[in-house]
Amino acid sequence: MPGFEIINHKEKKAVNKIFENGGVLFAHGFEKSRKNFHVREFEKTFGKKLKSKYNLAVSSGTAAIKIALKALGVKPGDEVITQAFNFIATIEAILDVGAIPRIVNIDKSLNMNPEEIKSVINKKTKVILPVHMLGVSAEIKEIIKISKKYKIKVLEDNCEAIGGKYSGKYLGTLADIGVFSFDFGKTITTGEGGMIVTKNKKLDKYSREYHDHGHENNPKFPRGKDTKTIYGFNYRMTEMQAAVGKVQLSKLKYILNCNKSRFLSLKKNIAGNFEIRKEPNKSISSYDTFIFFEEDNKIRSKIINLLKKEGYGTKNLPDAIEWHCSAFWDHALSSKEIKKSIKTKEILKNAIAVPIWLKKTPKEYENLGKKIKKFK
Ligand SMILES: Cc1ncc(COP(=O)(O)O)c(C=O)c1O
Repeated sequence: MPGFEIINHKEKKAVNKIFENGGVLFAHGFEKSRKNFHVREFEKTFGKKLKSKYNLAVSSGTAAIKIALKALGVKPGDEVITQAFNFIATIEAILDVGAIPRIVNIDKSLNMNPEEIKSVINKKTKVILPVHMLGVSAEIKEIIKISKKYKIKVLEDNCEAIGGKYSGKYLGTLADIGVFSFDFGKTITTGEGGMIVTKNKKLDKYSREYHDHGHENNPKFPRGKDTKTIYGFNYRMTEMQAAVGKVQLSKLKYILNCNKSRFLSLKKNIAGNFEIRKEPNKSISSYDTFIFFEEDNKIRSKIINLLKKEGYGTKNLPDAIEWHCSAFWDHALSSKEIKKSIKTKEILKNAIAVPIWLKKTPKEYENLGKKIKKFK
């Protein structure tokens, strides 16, 4: 969760500059009274960094998922397949476009189990929505292969693994469309914010128009006379968010390197004594969270207490499992999907997720590992 840990004078200066240069906080227009177009620049630098063709900054990761589903043509009554270890936002976005969420369980990688996908596909299936949970890539190539066979689309939710890779490509850029979040707890943060990336011009065009009341931003007309063909909504990012985002993006490499050194310091002292979360062969993690399994309740409690006492806490597992496992979402899912999710709950109940903090040193993670090892 390091983005917010290293907010400093650089982000402050970037925001102050907006006010010094005319104070325009809106992404569009006001050409004469501003020096920069921060949202457009944030999109451009994001695309350059992640080698993604079309990039659209929006107000949140949740908004990004909803817009991407609309762009893919998901209509009321269609089905969207996603996974049981997740964040509620994904389900909310599916429901908000009137579609039906269908749940697939995870495996010991804590990501979507591709073997379960085929059994859920039917005539109503429009999209598969895998999530790269807590830094680790899904089996995204396998999922894309299945989608091609059944002629359905893939939306990658990469809100939790920015900077991670699969087969040398950045997560979020491999499927038809991908989404990112920059909320307060993400690897880079703009407070609230999101990004939609795609190689497909049509998907970008629809998303761009939908997120901005249908505006086509036709260069031939002033904004008040702009052309439109669809109605949309307001999911725009502000200039202040984008100014912070550009600075945070310049810190991404540093954050990923710091994550890695801390993650590996912990891993080398735990591996061998505990079962560790699996990662796909061709993937590189963003090392956001270290996850391992312990079946013995007493040992697990001791470890969790140690993490609390030493100021690490846990991330999602177990502290916020109710918001991350679909077995708890009877306010949003059918009883059939809840029942199905029990298998995932069983895997998650033994998992401990250690957040990787920048403010803690690799040495501290090494010592933490040594202490955890003694419980076995
Ligand atoms: C997997 C996943 N998807 C979507 C979201 C939603 O992002 P946001 O908080 O920016 O709306 C989150 C945020 O926690 C997430 O973890």
